[in-house]
Amino acid sequence: MKRIFSGVQPTGNLHLGNYLGAIRNFVRLQSDFDCIFCVVDLHALTLWQEPEELRRHTREVTAAFLAAGVDPKSNIIFNQSQVRAHAELAWIFNCVARIGWLNRMTQFKEKAGKNRENASAGLYVYPNLMAADILAYKATHVPVGDDQRQHLELCRDIAQKFNHDYGVDFFPIIEPQILGSATRVMSLRDGSRKMSKSEASDMSRINMTDGADEIARKLRKATTDPDLLPGPEVLGEDGALPEETRRARPEAYNLLGIYAALADEDWTAVLTRFEGKGFGDFKKALVELAVAKVGPIGDEMKRLTADTGAVDAVLREGAERARAISEPILQECQDIVGLLRP
Ligand code: TYM
Repeated sequence: MKRIFSGVQPTGNLHLGNYLGAIRNFVRLQSDFDCIFCVVDLHALTLWQEPEELRRHTREVTAAFLAAGVDPKSNIIFNQSQVRAHAELAWIFNCVARIGWLNRMTQFKEKAGKNRENASAGLYVYPNLMAADILAYKATHVPVGDDQRQHLELCRDIAQKFNHDYGVDFFPIIEPQILGSATRVMSLRDGSRKMSKSEASDMSRINMTDGADEIARKLRKATTDPDLLPGPEVLGEDGALPEETRRARPEAYNLLGIYAALADEDWTAVLTRFEGKGFGDFKKALVELAVAKVGPIGDEMKRLTADTGAVDAVLREGAERARAISEPILQECQDIVGLLRP
């Protein structure tokens, strides 16, 4: 059986990268897979969160799933802390994963920054909890943006080591699903940095709740270069954009990639359309497209976030269904490792 699991942290400022790299793919995959989508509030706690803000952001991420088109009847939507298997399995995985593996995690290094001694212990074992999220449901496919690649490798390592150490074939070896032409959306101010919730400047990202005026202002001010836009001859034989080409004009290819993803067109189509044009013309088209695609989702998110009763009902029902799947898997795992259930 193929089962999808993915999660989004309720840390505020959901942006176009979260949408194009992950949430939009959830909507596309929901008809072909049995899907579980989680608001990972326990992960959010690894960095300081104001309690009231955390509650609000948990509802906001739920609203984003719903507004983007995830159907809460055919899929499960819930928040992580309401299902005990996540934290309990994470503890077992804390005892499977090796410190050497965690030391190699680039996201820990980025998030802990220079003051590593002062980072929470939770931030360090963050990837073990992520593996628990996925494997508590024996999910096989995990749709994420490119920045989660290393964490998913660790999830595979944990499953493999667990199966090997206990001589079982219990946990599946997952397949990352890094899909589409915007798997790594970059900052609008600096094409060498990822678009991120935590970037201080709001001008660096398009938030999913931005209105038409904000979207237009941010895209008009987005950093570009002085050259005209290239044609499809820059693409490789496979129609993909070679990495060294992207690196030479990171801001231009970021905006073109966003256009391609929003328009649902491939690189060839987009580069053919804008070949030889200046950024003025291109940005006009990009603003129009972004407002048309993101605007209605943001409006619906705002409407849903205000309707806390309806959102909470989705989370409550989702948690119940999530428990029904994860509880027997957790118990079997406890039996395998020798935790007595008298
Ligand atoms: P988070 O909350 O940082 O991001 C949610 C999703 O958005 C993707 N994403 C991006 N995609 C393209 N361009 C960007 N600039 C960009 N920024 C973020 C992320 O890759 C992610 O798919 N650790 C995860 C949450 C998590 C999870 C899981 C994911 C916890 N448990 C289990 C999958 C399976 C995270 O911090 O995502």
